[in-house]
Amino acid sequence: MITGLRGGPLISVTRITELAHFMAGLMITEGVLTVDATAGNGYDTVFLAEKVGPEGHVYSFDVQQEAIDYTYKRLKQENLEKRVTLLRKNHEYLQQYVPDRVAVIMYNLGYLPGGDRHITTKYDTTIKSIKQALGLLIPGGIISIVLYPGHREGAEEKEKIIPFCRQLDSSHYEILNSRLLNRDQNPPELIIIQKKSKMTAGF
Ligand SMILES: C[S@@+](CC[C@H](N)C(=O)[O-])C[C@H]1O[C@@H](n2cnc3c(N)ncnc32)[C@H](O)[C@@H]1O
Repeated sequence: MITGLRGGPLISVTRITELAHFMAGLMITEGVLTVDATAGNGYDTVFLAEKVGPEGHVYSFDVQQEAIDYTYKRLKQENLEKRVTLLRKNHEYLQQYVPDRVAVIMYNLGYLPGGDRHITTKYDTTIKSIKQALGLLIPGGIISIVLYPGHREGAEEKEKIIPFCRQLDSSHYEILNSRLLNRDQNPPELIIIQKKSKMTAGF
């Protein structure tokens, strides 16, 4: 009789950031370019840097020097700093700094955990950035967006980003929205936008 997964489950579906890593990880092969649009504490940048391998590269953005410093420290600890270009820039200027097509672009929206809650992503610049991200994706590539509707600006972002995604042309993009259905108080959500290629065309 099977009583459980040996060693525990690989990921918990309630951990939306783990789910985002899982999905992003499926799309990354060694040598590709990727973007972390919100570096924060550096967890996503380190994840991407590991995945792209020594021949790949990550462009990692944040508006706060504190976040850039945390991320650099974390990369240095893992000896991954050469794989990453850290940019203290607003991701609304994504296209200016990313030189070529990318396989994965990650957005983990909101504010820096433990930092200044007033410095948070906002729907207008986030959507401006996502529009550029769509243009940068390789066929089959994905944009992953973790939304945090539990705070005011996060709720506003969800309110604007979901309709923005809905109107994207389904002949060019597949879009998935993962939500925890049995939780109150606006839990985080994941959106995955995949640029269609012949290989990924669904129904
Ligand atoms: C939830 S944190 C990101 C967590 C991070 N991905 C990690 O793995 O630790 C959100 C980050 O977005 C940054 N941010 C807010 N507005 C931004 C913008 N317009 N462009 C780039 N980064 C922004 C904040 O400074 C904050 O560090």
